[in-house]
Amino acid sequence: MIDFDAIPRAALPDLLRRAPKAELHIHIEGSLEPELIFALAERNRLALAYPSVQALRAAYAFSDLQSFLDIYYAGASVLITEPDFYAMGAAYFARAAADHVVHAELFFDPQTHTERGIDIGVVIAGLARACADAKTRYGIDAALILCFLRHLSEDAALATLAQALPWRQHLLGVGLDSSELGHPPQKFARVFARARALGLRLVAHAGEEGPPAYIESALDVLQVERIDHGVRCLESPALVERLAALRMPLTVCPLSNVKLRVFDRLADHKLPALLDAGLCACVNSDDPAYFGGYINDNLVQTFAALPQLGPAQAYRLLRNSFEASFCGEGQRSAWIAELDAAFVAAAQH
Ligand code: ADE
Ligand code: ZN
Repeated sequence: MIDFDAIPRAALPDLLRRAPKAELHIHIEGSLEPELIFALAERNRLALAYPSVQALRAAYAFSDLQSFLDIYYAGASVLITEPDFYAMGAAYFARAAADHVVHAELFFDPQTHTERGIDIGVVIAGLARACADAKTRYGIDAALILCFLRHLSEDAALATLAQALPWRQHLLGVGLDSSELGHPPQKFARVFARARALGLRLVAHAGEEGPPAYIESALDVLQVERIDHGVRCLESPALVERLAALRMPLTVCPLSNVKLRVFDRLADHKLPALLDAGLCACVNSDDPAYFGGYINDNLVQTFAALPQLGPAQAYRLLRNSFEASFCGEGQRSAWIAELDAAFVAAAQH
């Protein structure tokens, strides 16, 4: 038993930083820092629309998801070779290790690259090498989730899945991202059915900007095992009840939600309500290079902004990250035991 009342609020930031955690919602292209964008542009002799790192960073002021995606896809255009994709992954894992991430499931957007003429094998090889290195260098267990761009057609998604098949062993699952409104999950029914038949795990962004009906469609039509974001479920009490009964994970990204104007301020974020409703929510960084922070920044800033969140909620969120992950059962129990030990130690101080 963990005595949460014995953990002072002042101990929370340090505890959140030190505790083991899983990150389940990180777009690896969204971890591309401006410094690396400039370094890769130089290496590949590409011209950028911004004169400096500072000017690029200053452009990171978004009014909604689409305004972010426009700049995010432009940033990813500097990735050309296998070592470029490796460098992007390696930079993320160095940050993740510093944040005590022990398990990471990385989203990547192959169509962002194949549409520019990059071979999907180059993309997957570089990222898979970074994942393998993360294990040997930091002990991080890492895997890849291939995301389909929902603003493109389902036929394009089917072609992408077919192109990825020679690298099937490097893929944990498939996801669905990019512009949500006007591109409901059911548009991708066939490609998700095919991915399921291949034994791939299924997740989808839904309920970030889209309505609760998109979350229902992700569950009913795509048969996903996790919802990415999902915060708009709160608009439908019946859906909240269903998600709670299923223990359907929601990978919530607080700093992203503020930067993309889903909520005005962190203090307005509905994470406390999601937890109070018994939902399996966890905290993630989404696109940390663009939204002002990695997973520990998300956790620490969110707890600082929301006094309703205390040690019990901190434990619940971190535990949910493991419960929601696609790791093996033995590994899951071992990490939860480590998490428990961190909280027991904090309660004894
Ligand atoms: N691609 C990268 N970040 C995304 C987000 N937050 N929503 C949808 N697509 C994305
Ligand atoms: Zn996302």
